[in-house]
Amino acid sequence: MRNLFRKIPTTAVPIYLPEVLRAVIKASDQDAVDHFEKRLAVWLGVSEVVLVNKGTTALYLILKALKRLHPHRDEVIYPDYTVPTLKLAFDQLELKTRVCDISRTTFNMDPRSLSEEITGKTLAVLPVHMFGFPMALDEVFNIAGEDIAVIEDACQAPGARINGEFVGAIAPSSIFSLCKGKNFSTYSGGFAAFNDIELAGFVRAERDKLPEAKSGLKMVVLITLFALAMRPGVYGPLYPFIKRFKSEEVHQHFDAVKFTSIQAALGDILLDKLEMINAQRRTNGLYLYEKLKDCGHILIPEIIDGADPVFNHFPVVFLNENDLKRAQSRLWEKGIDTARMYMRPNHHIYDLGYPSDAFPDSILIAKGLITLPSHPYMNQRDLGIISDIILNP
Ligand SMILES: Cc1ncc(COP(=O)(O)O)c(C=O)c1O
Repeated sequence: MRNLFRKIPTTAVPIYLPEVLRAVIKASDQDAVDHFEKRLAVWLGVSEVVLVNKGTTALYLILKALKRLHPHRDEVIYPDYTVPTLKLAFDQLELKTRVCDISRTTFNMDPRSLSEEITGKTLAVLPVHMFGFPMALDEVFNIAGEDIAVIEDACQAPGARINGEFVGAIAPSSIFSLCKGKNFSTYSGGFAAFNDIELAGFVRAERDKLPEAKSGLKMVVLITLFALAMRPGVYGPLYPFIKRFKSEEVHQHFDAVKFTSIQAALGDILLDKLEMINAQRRTNGLYLYEKLKDCGHILIPEIIDGADPVFNHFPVVFLNENDLKRAQSRLWEKGIDTARMYMRPNHHIYDLGYPSDAFPDSILIAKGLITLPSHPYMNQRDLGIISDIILNP
C-alpha cells in the first residue's frame, strides 16, 4: 500500500546510519581531513585540494590569494542568476561585484555578456556549472586571456564531465560545496581544487590560520538528523517541523572556519559511492529531460555537446506564472516537493549599479524557475507523476 505520508524532498543524499557510525569511528584518526583532501585530489585528477567549512570560504581564500598577486585588479564577474551569497566573499575582500547574463538555452553564463563586463580591473571570472549541467569553458578562457583568473564553480556539479574531463578540474582553481542541497554532502563544507600549485600553497597557508569549527559532537547530531530527514517516509510526517528550517532569505554573513574530522570521515565514505549516486541521478534526470525537452510552455537547459550532467536539481522554467503555481501545488498534493531557487537575479537583490531590466535571460529564468527533485530516493512512479504534471499543469 502507498504510504500517504511519504513526500519526496527537493534534494537528498542517501546516507545510512551505519555509515554515520563508521564516520564517527574513523574521525578519531588524526589525519582524517588530510586523508580526504588527498583522496579528493586523486579522484578529480588535480594537484591539490583544500577543505574548509563552505564553498563560499573556498572562494574567499582563492580570491584573497589572487588579490595579493594582482593588487591593481579589484573586480569579479559572476552570473547574474546564481547563488547570491557568493557576493559575501567579494565584499569581505572589498572587491567590486559585476555580473553577466546567463543563456536561456543553457542556463549557464553567456560568454558574449561576459565579454561586455570585462574591464582592465577584472581580477577573476566565475563560470558556474548550474544545476550540475556542465558549461563549455573554452570561450571563457579566451575572453579571460592571460591576465584574468578563471575560477570554476563546480558546487552543484561534483562528478559531472565535459569532453571526458571532470568539471572543477579544468581551470587553475575551482570551488565545490558539500552543503545540504548537494549530490555529495557532509551536511556542510566545501573545498577548493587546484591545478595551480602556487595558488594552492597560499590558500592552504591561509586555511591553516582559520579557527577550528565548534564541537564535533553537535555535527554528529546534525548529520544524523539530516540523514534521517531526507528519507521520503520521514520527510513527509516531519514536514511541518522541517519547514521551519527552510528559508529563502539571502544570508548576510558567512564564517570562515576549518572543516571537521567527522565530516571528512563521512565524505571519505560517501566518495566511494558518489559514482553510484550520480548514476541514479543521471537516470532520473535523463528520463525527465527526454519527457520535457520539446515543450512549448516551459524551458529546460540544453545538455551541450560532450557534456555529462549530474542533475543536482532538475530546473524547469515556466513561461506562465499560473502554470508554475498550479504545477507546484499539484506536485505537492502528489507527494513531490519542489523549490524556487533564487527567485531574483543578483542585480535585483543587490544594488550593483545596473538598470533593472539588464540581463533579460537571468530575469526570465529567476521569475519562472522551479527545481524538481532528481535524487536516488525517487522511483519510477514519482518520475511519471512529475513529467505528467509538468507537461499538463
Ligand atoms: C553554485 C553554487 N556556488 C556556491 C555555493 C556556495 O556554497 P556554500 O553554501 O557551501 O558556501 C553554492 C551553494 O549553495 C552553490 O550552489
